[in-house]
Amino acid sequence: MLRSEKTMQEPLFTHTLPHDLVSLSDYERYAASHLPAAVWEYISSGVADEHTLRNNSDAFARLSLYNRLLADFSQAQTRTQLGGLSLNSPLLLAPVAHQQLIHPQGERATAQGAAAAGVPMICSTLSHTRFADIAAEHDQCWFQLYWQPLHETNRLLLQRAEEHGSKAIVVTLDAPVQGLRNRIQRSGFAVPSHLREANLRDLPVAGPKPLTSQDSVIFQGYMADRPGAEDLIWLRAQTRLPLYAKGVSHPDDARILKDLGFDGLIVSNHGGRTLDTLPASIDLLPDIRSAVGPNFPLLLDGGVRRGSDIIKALALGANAVCIGRPQLWALAVGGALGVAHMLKLLQQELEMNMALCGCPTPDDIGPGVIAGRV
Ligand SMILES: Cc1cc2nc3c(=O)[nH]c(=O)nc-3n(C[C@H](O)[C@H](O)[C@H](O)COP(=O)(O)O)c2cc1C
Repeated sequence: MLRSEKTMQEPLFTHTLPHDLVSLSDYERYAASHLPAAVWEYISSGVADEHTLRNNSDAFARLSLYNRLLADFSQAQTRTQLGGLSLNSPLLLAPVAHQQLIHPQGERATAQGAAAAGVPMICSTLSHTRFADIAAEHDQCWFQLYWQPLHETNRLLLQRAEEHGSKAIVVTLDAPVQGLRNRIQRSGFAVPSHLREANLRDLPVAGPKPLTSQDSVIFQGYMADRPGAEDLIWLRAQTRLPLYAKGVSHPDDARILKDLGFDGLIVSNHGGRTLDTLPASIDLLPDIRSAVGPNFPLLLDGGVRRGSDIIKALALGANAVCIGRPQLWALAVGGALGVAHMLKLLQQELEMNMALCGCPTPDDIGPGVIAGRV
């Protein structure tokens, strides 16, 4: 048996959390020792030589913050507006697939934790739990669409998301082919067949593509199925919900997507899992903000692990950030309680850093908080 088949385990702690869980890296350390080795490789690895994966956190560490002294904090708070949506804090959970690898209740437990913390959750197409069942736990869910070859399948996925109260739709565009994740390949990991992608279970599927021996599985196979501009125009017309594109790294794409009618973008390199040597997300952000103008909603994910990272992202043009892997670490370590606690830690760090940087509200966080960017 592959080590990856040992799944559906209980979290390490169920009722109380140990006193030394005080930061997201503590959750990472506990999760690494608790999860089966192959599952750990699946969630922690990046593509190829993992330059982008490392860059995501190194780039945050290279930015320094100023301590500011005299601001008035009597009305301070972390609430923020994202288009027409109001957030308690500039914080969301990024879409992360296959959560029953980590916890018996998978996405349902994550949703309970996120609901307790008041943090919206973006739910993956590839969840092990149906969107309807996740949304029953949390009234701030967004649906993330992985484009499907048949328009009818996409239409039904959107329709169900709307019926079950999705607050927005995110279509992920940066992963038409899976990056070559060498660590996963070496571990021999595959998602066990008894864990099914619940949203797709009863939907129409395209038949196998008739490829000749001259055809490339990548070019004539996967790339032929990815959405083009016409498909995205079609998608825009299918929903009145706010529509976000995820996986934007180039300012020209940002401009085009804005012109196609998207309501917002997620600046992301997929947590270093698609194209290796892509710049860190935080390094992509300023050019994308310049491309779309000051008022267009922008989210960022990739390597956000500290309240200070959130400040840096907001300072360089994001309206809010999304948290990827740490939700899995927290789920493995403490289930719903762990997710709620992990988000609470981030919220406290954010408030602490806002206090020290002299920023009573998210709107007060500008490039001037970063040393050398005044
Ligand atoms: C195990 C795993 C599964 C993921 N599944 C999805 C997914 O289903 N859809 C998607 O758009 N992004 C997915 N992502 C990417 C995340 O949404 C996010 O972009 C990335 O994890 C952010 O980086 P971080 O993990 O450093 O916070 C996944 C990432 C991981 C690590």
